[in-house]
Amino acid sequence: MNEINSEKLANKHDEMEQRFTRLGLDFLRSLYSTLKTASLYEANNNRYISQAAKFRQHVAEVFTETKLVSFVFKDGYFFLNNFRITLDTSDQEASEYYIEKFKRVSIGGFEISFKADAREIDKFIFCFSHFKATEDVDESHELFREKLDNLAIENIIPVKIAESDKEFDPAKDKESKTRARKVFFQAIGAVQDIINQAKAGATINLAKTKRVVQSMVDRIIEDEPAMMELTVLHNFDNYTYIHSVNVCVLSLIMGHRLKLDKKRLSDLGVGSLLHDIGKVNLSIDLLNKSAPYDDSDWLQMRMHPVYGVKAIIKTRGTDRSSVRAIGAAYEHHITYTGTGYPQLLQKRTPCLFAQIVSICDTFNAMTSGRIYHKRRMSGDEVITNMVNRSDIDFNPVLLKVFINVIGVYPVGSVVRLTNNEVAIVSRTNPENLENPEVKVIADRTGLKPMVQVIDLSKEATDGVHIQSVIDGEKYNIDPANFIDLG
Ligand SMILES: [Fe+2]
Ligand SMILES: [Fe+2]
Repeated sequence: MNEINSEKLANKHDEMEQRFTRLGLDFLRSLYSTLKTASLYEANNNRYISQAAKFRQHVAEVFTETKLVSFVFKDGYFFLNNFRITLDTSDQEASEYYIEKFKRVSIGGFEISFKADAREIDKFIFCFSHFKATEDVDESHELFREKLDNLAIENIIPVKIAESDKEFDPAKDKESKTRARKVFFQAIGAVQDIINQAKAGATINLAKTKRVVQSMVDRIIEDEPAMMELTVLHNFDNYTYIHSVNVCVLSLIMGHRLKLDKKRLSDLGVGSLLHDIGKVNLSIDLLNKSAPYDDSDWLQMRMHPVYGVKAIIKTRGTDRSSVRAIGAAYEHHITYTGTGYPQLLQKRTPCLFAQIVSICDTFNAMTSGRIYHKRRMSGDEVITNMVNRSDIDFNPVLLKVFINVIGVYPVGSVVRLTNNEVAIVSRTNPENLENPEVKVIADRTGLKPMVQVIDLSKEATDGVHIQSVIDGEKYNIDPANFIDLG
C-alpha cells in the first residue's frame, strides 16, 4: 500500500461519511415528520400519504448504498448505518422524541431491510407512533415486538439495547481502530530503526522496541480484531518491516490465547519482531531475487537465524528475556521434528516461542506472496497446506490454536456470499468461526461504490452466508486495499 492508495482510501471514506451524514439527517427528519403525521391522521389521509411517500424516497436513497438501513441512538448520538448524524438545533424536538420513544420500549433503534415494502413501512410507522408503553420497559419491549409480529412486520426489526450491543459503539470502535493503526505503524517505524542500526553495525536500541511491543500487547488485550485486521497489509514499502510486525501481532495474539503473562508476552513480542533481524546481513539482491533460489542462495539464506542471534546478543546480552528472544530468532526455521535450518547437532523440538513464531511466520510469508513463495496464497489455502504438515513441521496443538485465532476464513480472505456478492473477511468471530464480519465490495454488477460492512452472525443479514473462498489474486482484488487507514 503506498501513500497514494491510502490517501485514496481516506478520501473514499470521507466521501462515504459525508454522504451518510446527509442521508442520515434527511432520514431522521423525514421519519420524524412521518411519525408525527401518523399520530394525527389516518393512513388513507392525503397528508399522511404524501409525507409517507417523501419518507420512502429517503429510504430508497439509502438503499442505493446498502441493503440494510440501521437507525440507532447510542451514547448520545444518532447513527445511520454506523455513521454519526450531526444534528442542528432545529432537530432538538425530533431528537427528544426518538430518545424518549426508544427508551420506553427499550430499543436502541431499528433496522429496515430492503425487502420492506410501502405497506410494511406504513404498518411500522403507525405501530411505533401509536404504541403506548407501560411502566416496565422490558414488558413494553416484549409488547412492542409482539405487536410487530401480529402485524406480520418482518423486515423492520427493532434493535434491543442488549449487553452485547452495548459493547459495540461505533465511536469507540473507530477510536480503537485508530489506536491499533497508530501502534502498528509505530512498530513498523521501530523495525525500520532497528534494521538501519543493525545495517550500520551499531548496537540496536531496544528501549523503543520494548515500548512499542508493550503498546501492542495492550492493544491486543483490549481489541484483538482491530490489530488482527492490519495483518492483511503487505509489501508496505519494504516486505521485511511489515512482515516482522505482522508476525509479531499474530504471535502475540497466539500468546494471549495461550494465556501467557504480560512479561512473557513482551518477550515473545520482542523475539517475534526481531525474528528476521539477521536478514540485514544478507544482500538486497538475494532478498529481492524473483528467480528460484539455487544452492548458494540457500546457503546464505540459512544463515539469517545465526546472524539474528549475534545481533540480539550484541544488544541485550543473555538475560532471561534475551534468551527467549534469541530462541525465537534462532529456531524459527526449525521444524517441530527438529529438521530445517540452521542444522542442529542433535535433533530437538524448538522452544515454545520459536514454535509460535514458525507458525505465524509461515502463514504470513505465504499469504503475502513472499518472493520465494512467489504467488500470494489465500489464507485457507495456506492453512490446508500447513495442516498437511502438522505434527511434522508444526506443533499440532499450537496449529489448532492458531487456526482458532485466524478463523475458518482468515481475515483478508476474499469470499463469495450465498447472495452472489463478493466480500472480504474483516473480523473473525471466535464464537462463530463460520460467520465472520465481512466487507461487501462487489455484486453482480461490479465493484460497489461504497464498501458495506456486515456481520454474518447477525440475524439481520437475512441468512446470507459464505458460499466459497475465491482467489482474490485472479480477480485482482487485494484485501489490503480495503483496510481503512484513517
Ligand atoms: Fe526467517
Ligand atoms: Fe520471517
